[in-house]
Amino acid sequence: MRTLSTLTHLECSICNEKHDPNIIQTICQFCGRALVARYDLEKAKNTFTREKISTRVTSMWRYEELMPVIDTANIISLGEGMTQLLPVPNLGKKVGAVDLWVKDEGSNPTGTFKARGISAALSKAIELNIKEIGMPTAGNAGSATAAYAARAGINAHVAMPSDTPIAMMDEVRTYGGTLKLIDGLISDAGAWIAEQSEQKGWFPMATLKEPYRVEGKKTMGFELWEQFDGELPDAILYPTGGGTGLIGMWKAYNELESLGLIGKERPRMIVVQAEGCAPIVKAFNEGSLRAEPWENATTLAPGIRVPAAFADDLILQAVRESNGDAITVNDHEITNAISEITQSEGIDVCPEGAATFAALRKLITGKRLNKDSKIVLFNTGTGLKHPELRAIL
Ligand SMILES: Cc1ncc(COP(=O)(O)O)c(C=O)c1O
Ligand SMILES: [Zn+2]
Repeated sequence: MRTLSTLTHLECSICNEKHDPNIIQTICQFCGRALVARYDLEKAKNTFTREKISTRVTSMWRYEELMPVIDTANIISLGEGMTQLLPVPNLGKKVGAVDLWVKDEGSNPTGTFKARGISAALSKAIELNIKEIGMPTAGNAGSATAAYAARAGINAHVAMPSDTPIAMMDEVRTYGGTLKLIDGLISDAGAWIAEQSEQKGWFPMATLKEPYRVEGKKTMGFELWEQFDGELPDAILYPTGGGTGLIGMWKAYNELESLGLIGKERPRMIVVQAEGCAPIVKAFNEGSLRAEPWENATTLAPGIRVPAAFADDLILQAVRESNGDAITVNDHEITNAISEITQSEGIDVCPEGAATFAALRKLITGKRLNKDSKIVLFNTGTGLKHPELRAIL
């Protein structure tokens, strides 16, 4: 059966050249930058309404007009998305924020928001008849890839740094993926996957070098809009590695505006990175359009230990257009924030999610963010994958 997808083509985010979505694509054939999916938004207008969507499946696939899969049989879903948006007044009081929320992505399949991007990318890969995929990861995307590949009945080859938390390695193996440990960072894992994919014919699914992961991640933006009854928050704090979620939500809001469902207002998009790995924050502070790779990246939050984001320019563009901000926190602030959040609100946060609260405190104290704003912190995953941190709390 056909989905309601109105996918028309892929477009280069930089040179705007069109690419055919009915064949396998990676990056722009002309300039080598990220491709993004485009839809027939006039057609989507007929059925993409809050009322209609509210009656649909409780997963991210409820936004099907603006998702890339054409045949329902190809959707590989484990029920990703439609995560809780929780008010956190106890936490808010600690920093004077009166309208504070946590979008808790820890309840996704495999425990992180990575499930969204992988469900979208893998489903489209199945639609394009791909049988074997390669995934470089900081950890969580590898877990999700192995799980969704198992469900799809295809092979997943995952490469991650050898000092990634053990839970993520175990997950890949348990779901039946093949795991390669790399002495280095996600960028080194990326180089290994690119080389192996070339030699062995795997389809490489690195962040934004594959066009559809961002389509899954953008559903976080749709969900906030739906869960806030058609309104958007004033600010979104996002722990930023490759930036897929931030770029995705920004895309979602541009699509909603084109559909006439929101106006011109946007949340301030706020990048949170670790002091030991902050290429985007540095570029933002220096007023640069691109970010330089970060040397000797180090932080206990593996998901944001990303020394070079492929779509750095798109992240910086969204932050600037939204009148956003970019800020760092150190590891000590992150572990403190884990205790504060878990013990005041009962939400089991991952270190990346905790970083957003540490950042909030600095932004409010520094008068960079108004404490009366409606603010959303992204907890991108469950704390359960981090027994190594529990020992030091
Ligand atoms: C828990 C967690 N938070 C945040 C990130 C960063 O996400 P993004 O690539 O969308 O910036 C990752 C990426 O690995 C992650 O695993
Ligand atoms: Zn291009």
